[in-house]
Amino acid sequence: MGTTIAKVNIMEYDTVALDDANNAVVIIDQTLLPGRTELAALKTAQEIWEAIYLLRVRGAPAIGVAAAMGIYILAKQIDTEDFEVFYGKLCEYKEYLDSARPTAVNLSWALKRMAAAALKAGREERKPVSEVKEILRREALEIRDEDIRVCRKIGENGLLLVKPGDGILTHCNAGKLAAVQYGTATAPIYLGQEKGYHFRVFADETRPLLQGARLTAFELCSAGVDVTLICDNMSANVMSKGWIQAVFVGCDRVAANGDTANKIGTSVVAAVAKHYGVPVYICATTSTIDMETPAGAEIKIEERPAHEVTEMWYKEPMAPEGIKVYNPAFDVTDHKLISGIVTEYGIARAPYTESLKEIMDKKADS
Ligand code: MRU
Repeated sequence: MGTTIAKVNIMEYDTVALDDANNAVVIIDQTLLPGRTELAALKTAQEIWEAIYLLRVRGAPAIGVAAAMGIYILAKQIDTEDFEVFYGKLCEYKEYLDSARPTAVNLSWALKRMAAAALKAGREERKPVSEVKEILRREALEIRDEDIRVCRKIGENGLLLVKPGDGILTHCNAGKLAAVQYGTATAPIYLGQEKGYHFRVFADETRPLLQGARLTAFELCSAGVDVTLICDNMSANVMSKGWIQAVFVGCDRVAANGDTANKIGTSVVAAVAKHYGVPVYICATTSTIDMETPAGAEIKIEERPAHEVTEMWYKEPMAPEGIKVYNPAFDVTDHKLISGIVTEYGIARAPYTESLKEIMDKKADS
């Protein structure tokens, strides 16, 4: 479970932090929100794996940062001076943490980046294991710092797509709680708030795990943003009234053709938005763009347990005992329904096969 360490105001804390002195990854435990705001210290491989699997820490960028810090904490405890022995054990931890959730590419992206840093320092540059561990610490902190910088930049780019007073609909939580600060889909909202834009945000509750109600509504309220909670089946209603000028959502993996996996229900919102002529913007850190996956059909979609649908959050089961349940955690939004993919390197537009490649080339050259 990890250790509970304090009650906090979420706006004052990073979603994921490193406590090097105590060999821990510190997270805001998102399964307790909005009722209780508590930090948890994760120290063992099992605690880190469980925290990711149980969504105590969730959201694509936050999972990546937690995994990077987690593997550093575990690497510190590998007791050998032999780099090959060290690296073998590190790879075991990497595979284990990577198995916690399949869809968000940031998890494997961050773990691969950490393993590559170790390999370069230890095998290529023949640095002692103690130095490799220090390099891993710096890499994990750089992944965190990058996330903060990148999300702010997404906010600046996303802000160009809306104007003061606009209504913005969002699904799931692609907020501060899904990253370290700012979030992705919420970054334009937070930056707009800094400029006094007064957006009116509509947050889908996001069945079955209620990330919209428990997390997005909570964090935006805590930040003083004008936010209205709606059920998932109300998006057509609010769009038909002309209350929504843009949809901003996050993503867990963007394929090379622009197809995007995000929280289950995102594709429904996108189809409804197309009907009402509302633009749909995917806010994506480039670490969520997977150029090795050609199209959405190839993205592995996580399926989760039945009880999340039948009884979780209810006082008593709300479905017959033993009912068949299908519970995919994500769906793929067809690139044809997407008006733009907002990244830290600019906004990609159709045709995405070309624009995403240009964005990734820009990143490689920077
Ligand atoms: O299952 P979750 O809560 O981890 O799903 C999260 C989402 O689908 C988010 O929209 C996505 O990770 C974007 S995060 C900036």
